[in-house]
Amino acid sequence: MSKVLVVCFSRSGTTRAIGAALAERLHADFEVITEPVDRSGPLGYLRSLADAVFTRSVHIEESRRDVANYDVVVVGTPVWAGTISAPVRAWLAIHRRKLPHVAFFCTQQMRGDAKVFREMTKLAGKQPVARCALTARLDAQAKQRFIEIFVDRIERTLARIDNLEWAV
Ligand SMILES: Cc1cc2nc3c(=O)[nH]c(=O)nc-3n(C[C@H](O)[C@H](O)[C@H](O)COP(=O)(O)O)c2cc1C
Repeated sequence: MSKVLVVCFSRSGTTRAIGAALAERLHADFEVITEPVDRSGPLGYLRSLADAVFTRSVHIEESRRDVANYDVVVVGTPVWAGTISAPVRAWLAIHRRKLPHVAFFCTQQMRGDAKVFREMTKLAGKQPVARCALTARLDAQAKQRFIEIFVDRIERTLARIDNLEWAV
């Protein structure tokens, strides 16, 4: 079984594409957070905005995977109103107690990553081993470089865990 789980929410596909690429690079399992509500179109945008601004709790569908079975869980969110997306907030609240090492990534149009990472750290109850913010204006090469650094940090964590397991 894989040692890494990549999990993310995506309204319009950007975060999902990054999550899928990360999962491939890390030979990880990949899960997209789903929910019963429709967030498409202008109404879905407004609903998402309101959920983020008012920190509304939302219902998400049950995960197929148990986070306790992994060494590292990589969590990705789009930035909404300068904060974490409501479905990822809900996912972190549900899984907080069982989370192993965590790494965070976010996608954004312009800004908000610093607050998002602070909130994710608080919700997860632990510091991430790596963080990666991907902004729309970055060119493909820069994005790739950020992803490589992020993957490298996660792989170093996995190597450290392997070494500890061999030492005991
Ligand atoms: C409701 C809403 C609020 C957003 N607020 C911000 C924001 O505060 N800052 C920002 O840089 N981008 C913001 N965005 C843009 C998204 O973070 C960005 O397009 C992201 O890559 C979308 O990811 P997705 O395609 O996976 O849903 C917002 C998007 C939505 C839908």
